[in-house]
Amino acid sequence: MAAERKENVVLFPFMGQGHIIPFLALALHIEREKGYSVTFINTPLNISKLRSSLPPNSSIRLLEIPFTSSDHGLPPNSENTDVLPYHLVVRLLRASTSLKPAFKKLLQDLIHQHHGHRPLCVIVDIFFGWTINVAKELGLFHAVFSGCSGFGLACYYSLWLNLPHRKVDSLEFSLPDFEEASTIHISQLPKNILEADGKDPWATYLQENLSAWVDSDGILFNTVEDFDRLGMLYFRRKLDRPVWPIGPVLLSSESRSSIGKETLVTPELCREWLNSKPTNSVLYVSFGSMNTISTSQMMQLALALEGCGKNFIWVVRPPIGFDINSEFKANEWLPEGFEDRMKGSSRGLLIPKWASQVEILSHRAVSAFLSHCGWNSTLEALSHGVPLLGWPMAAEQFFNVKLLEEEMGVCVEVARGKSCEFRHEELVGKIQLVMDDTEKGNEMRRKASEVSEMTKNAMKNENGVKGSSIRAIDNLFDAAARQMENTEGRQS
Ligand SMILES: *[C@@H]1O[C@H](CO)[C@@H](O)[C@H](O)[C@H]1NC(C)=O
Ligand SMILES: *[C@@H]1O[C@H](CO)[C@@H](O)[C@H](O)[C@H]1NC(C)=O
Ligand SMILES: *[C@@H]1O[C@H](CO)[C@@H](O)[C@H](O)[C@H]1NC(C)=O
Ligand SMILES: *[C@@H]1O[C@H](CO)[C@@H](O)[C@H](O)[C@H]1NC(C)=O
Repeated sequence: MAAERKENVVLFPFMGQGHIIPFLALALHIEREKGYSVTFINTPLNISKLRSSLPPNSSIRLLEIPFTSSDHGLPPNSENTDVLPYHLVVRLLRASTSLKPAFKKLLQDLIHQHHGHRPLCVIVDIFFGWTINVAKELGLFHAVFSGCSGFGLACYYSLWLNLPHRKVDSLEFSLPDFEEASTIHISQLPKNILEADGKDPWATYLQENLSAWVDSDGILFNTVEDFDRLGMLYFRRKLDRPVWPIGPVLLSSESRSSIGKETLVTPELCREWLNSKPTNSVLYVSFGSMNTISTSQMMQLALALEGCGKNFIWVVRPPIGFDINSEFKANEWLPEGFEDRMKGSSRGLLIPKWASQVEILSHRAVSAFLSHCGWNSTLEALSHGVPLLGWPMAAEQFFNVKLLEEEMGVCVEVARGKSCEFRHEELVGKIQLVMDDTEKGNEMRRKASEVSEMTKNAMKNENGVKGSSIRAIDNLFDAAARQMENTEGRQS
């Protein structure tokens, strides 16, 4: 009976922190905005970890899909990219297709438990093209959710499908189906794309599973139409499918901290420190929870922070080659006496491991953000109108910086890649360019605050006035409901 049934939405991310966290944010968003029940599928170890980090008032249902990593040539109990060395990540990716029969069975059981009432829609990871057939066989509405920007993913998608760098001799080239993105430089390619020849395990997997999207019912992006138009244009043209920009969908800091690492500098201490600083005087430096830099880069960065004369907060992690979760040794990895001098002058605050990022970015004292430009950190900065100094390190971060710098004018790239050589004098110049009262700096601040307005407007939902991102999620579920009526009508 229609009145009694609550629509169920099934979510299934790839097993990596960078995928699970945006899906969790989406799950909480759907629960809160639409009141639907949400079923979240993942492998057992990831589910047990998630169980302890869901907010207590959430009714999201966590469902285990059986998976034994050692059956796939992976170390025991490794169900997540974060616990794997780089060369095994593609093996986990390829092993995901073995979940197909179990995925089908889980969906059939769900339908059975709901007395034949099918989930309204199944939303899967960008890497899970293989789920489309399963959904179609069961007559379910299928959508792909990308936690990346539209622009960033468009470059990534086009690169994998075309491997354009293999076809030219030059260091720069354009994308054959995405001319709007202008040129890409070879130094902007993530390692696996750079090395791809079309026959390697990454390329064979992604070329099939990404191009399978043409059979999905649509693509959702954690982004805002107004500043990510080119990316939306690319996928609408390429796939001839609906594309729904529904962002920014972010975790609140409460749910974030329970998933993140423990903090050593408390949020209160950090707030007091920021309160004592003038408006727009602090540079915030963090490379996300999964990245770090080399020892020599860390030295140069410290010299730049000291040399630029600005206040700063720096979230520090052990450099490449050391366990990223081990203790931070300032006297080994930073210039002699650096920590004491910064403490003494109260000019810099070093935060080991993890900081309450949203709180920092929303503080009036913060003026700019030196970031790896992962999309989640970027959205947090854009929401609060904070301009960026970009140091992309992996995946589609290179193209996020391209979007932010060339299209949006809210970012200056300061370094590129994990192994780049970079000098403190250059960074000092760029920090001053962005933070000082320069023409460029003022222009960036003006644009960043425009983008922050766009972001707020997109998520507006008051007195019947809905922003573009709220309308997009309504449109997604309307399309799913229409399709369900059609198939149920046909079957009865
Ligand atoms: C987003 O950023 C937070 C730090 O603010 C981090 O804990 C989390 O893992 C990030 N999520 C993704 C998807 O990278
Ligand atoms: C996923 O599983 C791994 C074990 O392979 C675990 O270490 C990790 O914390 C889990 N991640 C999440 C987000 O649950
Ligand atoms: C859970 O609590 C948070 C914080 O109080 C609130 O924002 C959210 O809407 C609540 N979610 C549900 C599903 O009630
Ligand atoms: C996804 O990739 C795997 C491994 O290459 C392949 O077996 C599978 O058919 C692909 N799925 C789709 C839908 O292309």
